[in-house]
Amino acid sequence: MENNQSKKTFYITTPIYYVNDVPHIGHAYTTIAADVMARYKKLSGYDVLFSTGTDEHGQKIASSAEKVNLTPLELADKVVLKFKNLWPLLNIEYDDFIRTTEPRHIKVVQEIFNKLYENGDIYKGEYEGWYCVPCETFWTETQLTDETCPTCGKKIEKIKEESYFFKMSKYQDRILSYFEKNPQCIQPKARRNEIINFVKGGLKDQSVTRTKKSLKWGIDVPFDDNHVIYVWYDALLNYITVAGYNIDNKKFEKYWPADIHLVGKDILRFHTVIWFTMLMAAGIEPPRMVFAHGWWTIEGEKMSKSKGNVVDPYEMAEEFGADAFRYFLMREVSFGQDGNFSKDLMIKRINYDLANDLGNLVSRTVAMITQYFNKEIPKAGMEKEKYDVELEDFAVKTIKKYYNQMKNLSLNAALETIWQFIRRTNKYIDQTEPWILGRDNSQKERLSTILYNLAESIRISTILIYPFMPVKAKEIWEQLGLETGLEKIRFDEDASWGKLKPGISVKPGKIVFPRIDTKKKEQKEVKEAQEDKANIISYDEFKKIDLRVGKVVSAEEVMGTDKLLKLEVTLGKEKRTIVAGVRKHYSAEEILGKKIVVVTNLQPVKLRGIESQGMLLAAVDKDNVVLLTIDKDITEGSKIQ
Ligand code: MSP
Repeated sequence: MENNQSKKTFYITTPIYYVNDVPHIGHAYTTIAADVMARYKKLSGYDVLFSTGTDEHGQKIASSAEKVNLTPLELADKVVLKFKNLWPLLNIEYDDFIRTTEPRHIKVVQEIFNKLYENGDIYKGEYEGWYCVPCETFWTETQLTDETCPTCGKKIEKIKEESYFFKMSKYQDRILSYFEKNPQCIQPKARRNEIINFVKGGLKDQSVTRTKKSLKWGIDVPFDDNHVIYVWYDALLNYITVAGYNIDNKKFEKYWPADIHLVGKDILRFHTVIWFTMLMAAGIEPPRMVFAHGWWTIEGEKMSKSKGNVVDPYEMAEEFGADAFRYFLMREVSFGQDGNFSKDLMIKRINYDLANDLGNLVSRTVAMITQYFNKEIPKAGMEKEKYDVELEDFAVKTIKKYYNQMKNLSLNAALETIWQFIRRTNKYIDQTEPWILGRDNSQKERLSTILYNLAESIRISTILIYPFMPVKAKEIWEQLGLETGLEKIRFDEDASWGKLKPGISVKPGKIVFPRIDTKKKEQKEVKEAQEDKANIISYDEFKKIDLRVGKVVSAEEVMGTDKLLKLEVTLGKEKRTIVAGVRKHYSAEEILGKKIVVVTNLQPVKLRGIESQGMLLAAVDKDNVVLLTIDKDITEGSKIQ
């Protein structure tokens, strides 16, 4: 037995996610992939540290919080739960969840900042240039073609202020030679070349603070009260905080350097150029590998809030089951490449790969063992026929190939390898025709060999599947009557042919992967559409609503509430008082002078003692309320029809 001290370690991380937004498929993708690798390494006998968390400082969070009238920390406290509650629903088992607002992290960030300042790698200067808030990225003139961000395309801001700089330029040669000597440290290879070319293009010193005049929400620079630390400089350090840097040195020695930082391709540059140079300056070894995965498009289009096509992992888990969602994400694209998501593609995978290939194999095998051997897994006879030998060989090769693919993070290829074996096992049933042998008592021995081989193939497949679909694998495991918890399995001891003990009783259970009946699903959708139609109104009904163009000529806050504004609105000759609940989204100054759409023939209501004589129209979604305004100028009081 290995003791804990001598166990090999494996430290894997996900990016820490911004708390200005709820989790989407991109967050789920990285975290699921990390969970797959963590489980795989545990079964390979490693002592694993798997961390994830949230990135809670910076301009982006501060602005989002302001919009919803919360402090940044209040917003973070709310949104962090959306991540923390999602992970167990997706069968993700992390070891540590870090929030950058935790004292343990603030301590590390300030210590490193001090260290670099003391050794001269951080110095004071003035920053003049551009900043993209959505990406929290500084840009120089030479990197830009216009006033939009090269990464996200949104408008950028020009800033000029006192700033501390990190001497990144000093590390240009060292980092280049490091990348060249350690080619495995940036994966996949094509992305490594991009990074190397970027570094060859020249590294500039990096602005690493913002003045408190422009941004308060960040970790204080320990020796200068007027500055907070740039959010990426703070965020990247989470990886050493989790490992116990300067808090638990034994732990740090054990887990650092991290084995894999899994990230999306858009944040690879931060995780290589900035992160590696920071660590070099601090005298800390860089991570062993940063692996960048690709991005998902949704039915061929870029995912975005404005398109309304953001895939919600909560919904996916609810509609298809967490493990099927995990399977689809890991199986559909080659890890590292971009992929396309659609529910239709997912349903196909569920029906073909999961229900047909795997689900049927399990239910047929368990049913035959139940019928012919009174549930007891039979013994394989001494004699092996050609088909038996072929199946066993296939199993041995599958296991070997799978290890290699998992080692290289070829996660989709590893799944394909398992499925080739599953299909091969189904073929073995067709070749050996056990249902025919079952009718003939003299064939009992042959039949027992075949059913043993089938059960053994399923057992091996289940072990290999476990990192990807831990809950479904457990269901199959239990149907085979196996008792040791799957998480206690060790590849080297258990994933080899012949380890299945005959004599245990199978436990027929519910269908592991029910087929999704697309016809029924369509019918349900049609029915829902018809129900929507029931809400249709006639033109005459619509005509009854009197909509007019109004202009806001005065606006004031209603005392004693934080929601209401009292507006005076002119509608041509007439002037109305309207009380509108939009103050969280519009200040009195902002709304003043706007030409808006007013419903004029609503029954007046009294709000806080003020009679409101109409209503404004606004578009509303989860986070926003946006007033309908008039596209071109037109006389006040004009009718809208
Ligand atoms: N806070 C930073 C990371 C700091 S790590 C020290 C951040 N946060 S994020 O919330 O924006 O994280 C986004 C992660 O989701 C990134 O890895 C990004 O690549 C990934 N994705 C965002 N949209 C995606 C897709 N459409 N598809 C796949 N992944 C995508 O960046």
